[in-house]
Amino acid sequence: MKRFFKPALSVLLLLGLIGCGGGQAGEKVHTVRIGVSLYRQEDTFISLMANYMQEAAKELEQEKNIKIILTFSDAQSSQNKQNDHVSAFLEKNYDAVMVNLVDRTAAAALIDKAKAADVPMIFFNREPVEEDLSRWSKVCYIGADAAESGQLQGSLLVDLWQQNPQQLDRNGDGKVQYVMLEGDAGHQDSLIRTEAVIKTLTDAGIKTDKLATGIANWMRVQASTKMALWIEKYGDQIEAVIANNDDMALGALDALETAGTRTLPVVVGIDGTPVGLAAVADRRMLGTVYNDAEGQARAAVRVTCAMIEGESVESLHMDGNYLRLPYIRITRDNVRQYQTET
Ligand code: GAL
Ligand code: CA
Repeated sequence: MKRFFKPALSVLLLLGLIGCGGGQAGEKVHTVRIGVSLYRQEDTFISLMANYMQEAAKELEQEKNIKIILTFSDAQSSQNKQNDHVSAFLEKNYDAVMVNLVDRTAAAALIDKAKAADVPMIFFNREPVEEDLSRWSKVCYIGADAAESGQLQGSLLVDLWQQNPQQLDRNGDGKVQYVMLEGDAGHQDSLIRTEAVIKTLTDAGIKTDKLATGIANWMRVQASTKMALWIEKYGDQIEAVIANNDDMALGALDALETAGTRTLPVVVGIDGTPVGLAAVADRRMLGTVYNDAEGQARAAVRVTCAMIEGESVESLHMDGNYLRLPYIRITRDNVRQYQTET
């Protein structure tokens, strides 16, 4: 510890303690305040991200010898609430605002407010349209490539088709009869995943037959309600359940269990949340696609801090003002690697 009292400048540089306002010996520790507006705190993946953001902030505090205060607000799916929360952060002179948009098309007004206050604005998970993001230099987006997740999800089904077609095509008509559970309308991850997963099947020469599709807003309960209706209507005709996220895949499984369905259809999700991974491990789901909540949270906090201090974000590998982390395909072969020890 003693070493840290009067460290030579070179030591500080070596340890990376300077930067992001790093406190030099004798200086009061520098504090940054970041407001985080979540579209809906109850969302499983978003609450995971929020936890990882806290962890990332602690990690960065140590590394940079600063204090980071993250203040979360929950817009509860209301864009009006979110607008108020963001305005409040700006009025209270927060150093940056991180925004998980309720409505992707509502970014422009928020960016203009941030620009007027000269406060960096970092969007994550729900992607503003490109035109909005180019309104000002101190805005950026941290997320992932939605098409990639749809393609990887599709590849899970393609592999099964190639290795064990009778498990997917149970009625042997040469087509996959499927139902699709979609996230909220207008979200890039609903629209693009839905399109990409089916395109992946079609490109692999697999014929599909859409029995039903419905919006369940990423929610387990809504998905289970939709699925219960489809089970009544289509019964064992349903060969595959394709869900835009794990929570909705699990909702479908809830309905199948309630209905007492003996041979489960093939179920695939996206996210790799702890519950989703557990369903892959116990074979209720064929697979999922890992959406790196931890990596995205860490990147978002680091980019935010760098923008506050006017530091270069080069080491964070941004592509212009975008940063997208890769998705990873999860099957029972690699699921254990992603399940935490707890
Ligand atoms: C997606 C995620 C969903 C949901 C949504 C919220 O990336 O896969 O589970 O959290 O974001 O915007
Ligand atoms: Ca079939």
